Amino acid sequence: MEVWQTTDDLLRMNRFREQGPLVLVPTMGALHEGHLSLVRCGAEIGPVVVSIFVNPTQFGPNEDYGSYPRTMAKDLDLLKALPVAGVFAPDVGEIYGEGLETSVRPGHRAQGLCGGDRPDHFAGVLTVVAKLFGLVRPDVAIFGRKDAQQCLVISQMVEDLKMPIKLVDAPTLREKDGLALSSRNRYLSDSQRQQALCLFQALTEGRLLLEQGCRKRSVVLAAMEAWLQKADSIDYADVRQVPDLGRSEDIFGKTLLAVAARVGPARLIDNLVLQVDDKQVSDSYLLGTERKS
Ligand code: PAJ
Repeated sequence: MEVWQTTDDLLRMNRFREQGPLVLVPTMGALHEGHLSLVRCGAEIGPVVVSIFVNPTQFGPNEDYGSYPRTMAKDLDLLKALPVAGVFAPDVGEIYGEGLETSVRPGHRAQGLCGGDRPDHFAGVLTVVAKLFGLVRPDVAIFGRKDAQQCLVISQMVEDLKMPIKLVDAPTLREKDGLALSSRNRYLSDSQRQQALCLFQALTEGRLLLEQGCRKRSVVLAAMEAWLQKADSIDYADVRQVPDLGRSEDIFGKTLLAVAARVGPARLIDNLVLQVDDKQVSDSYLLGTERKS
């Protein structure tokens, strides 16, 4: 496995293009099994490049950019055990140089949810993802469904800017008790970790109501919010249509149940993507039309 730190180093990446569609898995490091599952998914498609870059422009002024876990040596050890062609791990100067005059402005999908009280977050995500796409020039890029709004905002950028890249959303990896894996789970004490389960419980309750035939957004939302009271504070609970993230009182079709809450020092998010039909509710996905999972 090669490690590339500069854009010049990336010239060494080109030989992997002959081996199949080049797959990019963008990350901010502090890798866990969720990230590794994206790498495994990518390796089924072609040679995989993982990027590790804690992107300053997507953090708000009061967020954890300074303290975000940076565990490069351990990350590289984890990746060495997987079929990874190379890791692109630039420093901030390499990506942002002397400054940034041009950025990517997200469309309406960035409003509300994780964009609600973080006005510059998705512009930061899109700008760095566009830079990574420009530098690595992947054929395929894999993102986790766990960050559902991020997937949908990126997919809109790819469509609107005609970027020749196929996007794949990979399923959310969870602990046995349902807690979604996250780099921020390491901030939690044992009791806070138990408390954090309320995010998945809120989603499970929402799903149960749908399975029992309820199709009213206000009813599903109220049930999700009741479970989220166990968190220290609630950022949001929401039910949105996929892919446009519109709201409708009658739930039908591809649907996102999404929650975000603070537990101790961590801001945690989770969601379920469901296909809601007249009589049936099943797991679904965000991007594309054909999918195994
Ligand atoms: P990061 O939070 O490091 O996540 C990297 C990728 O891993 C994202 O696509 C995310 O959705 C996915 N991921 C996180 N937890 C997961 C889980 N439990 N199961 C499956 N996939 C999971 O998302 C970012 O970084 C950044 O915003 C980035 C896209 C790299 C741009 O800076």
